[in-house]
Amino acid sequence: MDRKEFIKSCGYACLGVTILAPIFNSCVSTKSINVLIEGENLIIPKSDFIRDEKWLKYLLVNNVQLKYPIYVFRESEQNFTALYLQCTHQGNELNAYGEKLVCSAHGSEFDNQGNVTNGPAKKPLRSFPVRTDHQNIFISLKKS
Ligand code: FES
Repeated sequence: MDRKEFIKSCGYACLGVTILAPIFNSCVSTKSINVLIEGENLIIPKSDFIRDEKWLKYLLVNNVQLKYPIYVFRESEQNFTALYLQCTHQGNELNAYGEKLVCSAHGSEFDNQGNVTNGPAKKPLRSFPVRTDHQNIFISLKKS
């Protein structure tokens, strides 16, 4: 293989990785559940985080009283983060791609803690206090 062919094949390989990586990443299905609000808490059974005997990294939680879903990220068995999936730029609903939250309106991106990683949004996402017991995750919807 001469130098020109080598560079050409490397270019195709890079192009393939660039195109296919996001496609494979988006193939990881997102689990979405509907839960009840009891008092001022959303209550999520921890068992909802288990699929095929493996712990999921995150869930999307819906309730008819919420305009947008809540992204619940599992940091460890006891530590969870709950983020409202409303973009802080102009209010569009965000999409979850693994640990990255993306706004389709103007391209803002947030990490799994709600921090802006790519503008135009400037403010972090709204987060909710979370506590757990052995069986459940409690997300407080109380406004502070
Ligand atoms: S509304 Fe999300 S980036 Fe503009």
